[in-house]
Amino acid sequence: MHQQMTRANFLEKTSLASVALLLSSLEVFAKEEQTIINVAIIGCGSVSNRYIVHLQSSPFIKIVSLCDIKKDRAEAQNKKYNIGASTYNHIDALLKGNDFDLMLTLTDMQMHGALNKIALQAGKNVWSEKPLANTYAEGKALVDFAKSKGVRIWGAPAVVTSTQFEFMSKTIQAGKLGKLASAHGQYGHTGPTWSSFFYEPLGGSMPDLGVYNMATLTGLLGPAKSVMAMTSIVNKEREIDEKGIIKVNEEDNAHILLAHDNGVISHVMCGFNYFDPFGHEAKNQTLHSIQIFGDKGNMRLIGYDWEPKSVVLDTSWTEPPQVHQTDDKGYQWQEGATRIAGALATHIEPRINVLHSLHVLEIIEAARKSSKEGIKVKLESSFPWPML
Ligand SMILES: NC(=O)c1ccc[n+]([C@@H]2O[C@H](COP(=O)([O-])OP(=O)(O)OC[C@H]3O[C@@H](n4cnc5c(N)ncnc54)[C@H](O)[C@@H]3O)[C@@H](O)[C@H]2O)c1
Repeated sequence: MHQQMTRANFLEKTSLASVALLLSSLEVFAKEEQTIINVAIIGCGSVSNRYIVHLQSSPFIKIVSLCDIKKDRAEAQNKKYNIGASTYNHIDALLKGNDFDLMLTLTDMQMHGALNKIALQAGKNVWSEKPLANTYAEGKALVDFAKSKGVRIWGAPAVVTSTQFEFMSKTIQAGKLGKLASAHGQYGHTGPTWSSFFYEPLGGSMPDLGVYNMATLTGLLGPAKSVMAMTSIVNKEREIDEKGIIKVNEEDNAHILLAHDNGVISHVMCGFNYFDPFGHEAKNQTLHSIQIFGDKGNMRLIGYDWEPKSVVLDTSWTEPPQVHQTDDKGYQWQEGATRIAGALATHIEPRINVLHSLHVLEIIEAARKSSKEGIKVKLESSFPWPML
């Protein structure tokens, strides 16, 4: 880590309110000199476009290395975003190359666990796109291993950092909804066309899409104790860019029931067959994607939980519902890695907690087992809750 840019220096260079907010919330500028976190990205496909721009808006991050098994992709991103990083085609070469503090794992989902382990073994901190491993056991072993090596691992998504999540959590904790009973979350679109791994074993709509709602609902209602689910494959074949027709071997349609403490039950539905004219961008999405019901009030999140617009709160028999948190204060779904780099720079613990990611991973695995065997599956994992 190097000492470089100052607050004044940075604010001169950017007017991004979101970044200023993020930095002040992390109290990064408590001192004038800043720690620079050297970042390496592995996987330079679709999502790297969103990550790179956000990382580049931060004064305490330097992207020093880009790696992709399709090396031309690493080179193309280096050029497109004028990064000036070194490029590699394999994690071994990446680890032998430029020194770095934090690896961002943005590859095919099925590769995350193995790549994260190699990076931890090399003494690197890791931010992993979801899921952080393919199975709960693999994920737990990674977390334990990181601890033993004195490094850290965190996993996407970053939904708990939005102001809307914050508002919903505080409203629940203040008892404004009364005795909680039920909640619902949903997220779907017609499925990615650019890569086949989404439809291959251990891909599927749960780790890609349902994961957001699972993180939101457990974040709001507390850890789940057990899971019942039904999953299916609706489209047996898909057309993938540059590959043509492929067979779908993992669920593309899932309904998951979660039992929380005190009799609270929540439900998540996700899939790759949901017509959604707003597509992946979800900019104008007005769907009530998260709904929470108690006996004194209910709350609906407008937009998706990863791209929230506002929260409608209804607690009166006579007054109309009120709209809250229309200002996202600069939250962006791809901000997780930037926040983690900030946490490493400042030693301030971030709200995103790997035990929460691990809990969601256990839910996904339990949902698969429940659907396959037609049983209710008990969960063992937990995480510090309430989150705020
Ligand atoms: N695309 C999005 O909008 C989006 C949004 C949020 C999260 N995600 C998550 O991000 C991850 C990546 O998704 P994507 O859409 O960018 O996929 P993608 O197929 O566009 O990119 C993945 C890249 O990883 C590379 N790769 C695969 N195995 C590798 C290895 N062993 N070493 C180095 N590189 C390797 C591939 O060549 C490819 O360039 C997934 O976990 C996905 O769920 C994607």
